[in-house]
Amino acid sequence: MTRSDQLRAMSEEHSAHNYHPLPIVIAEADGAWVTDVEGRRYLDMLAAYSAVNFGHRNPRLVEAARRQLDRVTLVSRAFDHDQFGPFVTELAELCGKDMVLPMNSGAEAVETALKTARKWGYEVKGVPAGQANIITFDGNFHGRTTTIVSFSTDPDAKDSYGPYTPGFRTVPYGDVAALKAAMDDDTVGVLVEPIQGEAGVNVPPSGFLRAVRELCAERGALMLADEIQAGLGRTGTTFACDHEDVVPDVYILGKALGGGLMPVSAVVANADVLGVFKPGQHGSTFGGNPLACAIGREVVAMLRTGEFQERSRELGAHMHRRLGELSSDLVQEVRGRGLWAGVELHGRARPVSERLMELGVLAKETHETTLRLAPPLVIEREDLDWALDQLETALKG
Ligand SMILES: Cc1ncc(COP(=O)(O)O)c(C=O)c1O
Repeated sequence: MTRSDQLRAMSEEHSAHNYHPLPIVIAEADGAWVTDVEGRRYLDMLAAYSAVNFGHRNPRLVEAARRQLDRVTLVSRAFDHDQFGPFVTELAELCGKDMVLPMNSGAEAVETALKTARKWGYEVKGVPAGQANIITFDGNFHGRTTTIVSFSTDPDAKDSYGPYTPGFRTVPYGDVAALKAAMDDDTVGVLVEPIQGEAGVNVPPSGFLRAVRELCAERGALMLADEIQAGLGRTGTTFACDHEDVVPDVYILGKALGGGLMPVSAVVANADVLGVFKPGQHGSTFGGNPLACAIGREVVAMLRTGEFQERSRELGAHMHRRLGELSSDLVQEVRGRGLWAGVELHGRARPVSERLMELGVLAKETHETTLRLAPPLVIEREDLDWALDQLETALKG
């Protein structure tokens, strides 16, 4: 038995994670590349689902973390620390908003946004107690807490976790008429992924986000944009909502905000919205800790240069051009934006991701038939071309 087989057997036997992993055990990573325990190198075309947008162990981010590790990493939430004010100020500025509420995981940030919308609905909009509703979309993925899975439409994510949290209405993604029909005076928010990631990189019809924005304004509901996977450079702009010049009321951020080093998430909105929380009403032990803030500040500084958005735009256009030229009969459709693609196949995507792995490229299926590609935004053009060559080979079977 190889070391790799031993380690895989241990995780299969003793771990309750069930991500249906590819048969690889990663030991090291650098930039867009990872190395397994046997010393084989692979190009990472998934980037931890957009959490390593800036590459594995990005030197700037590692340096920021190191500096902070030598100073202070965690304080009681009862005390302020010198990274907090600058982090919330700089992130608010990047988003063009007034206030930031830092959390840790994406799901926590989504929960925070849902609580914000309800509290705002009751205290500002004047919705009668217990009547608030929030609209969500078919195919959504916003995390795995009991409330969030209550409005999931994926049986794997949802089944056997009831009773479910009430107060959500789910309509087809991209369907403006259905959204309009579902909204009423008690609607406090519309929770939307500007591009659905886990559902298979589903890009909504052009004008959809603008219509959501307008309907929210008309009905006095908050537009809650879950940019956890789509945001922070992934689609070629800072936020995926930017493609339609849409500014939501609430940005929900995570994944890449932690620079691939640690979980950092946040909810960002104006003071008339996030200001509904008074001291003691919401928080987290680790949310906004000094290490997270130091890393988050560096992420914001890197995004401010526009360099990563530009790479995603240019390399993404190249990637989509090449994907569009794939001659395989297996390929049904290619969706996506920037360095992000869902390649819809006529058959199962799993065998293709397994063949790709043998060829030295890591990508993964989402649902049965979609192959998702989301390389780190630091990927070199030659490496990207090489990965796409391997994809062509893998599709030949
Ligand atoms: C759009 C979106 N929202 C929320 C989440 C949940 O984030 P986390 O896994 O950090 O809780 C994810 C994770 O994939 C996501 O893609």
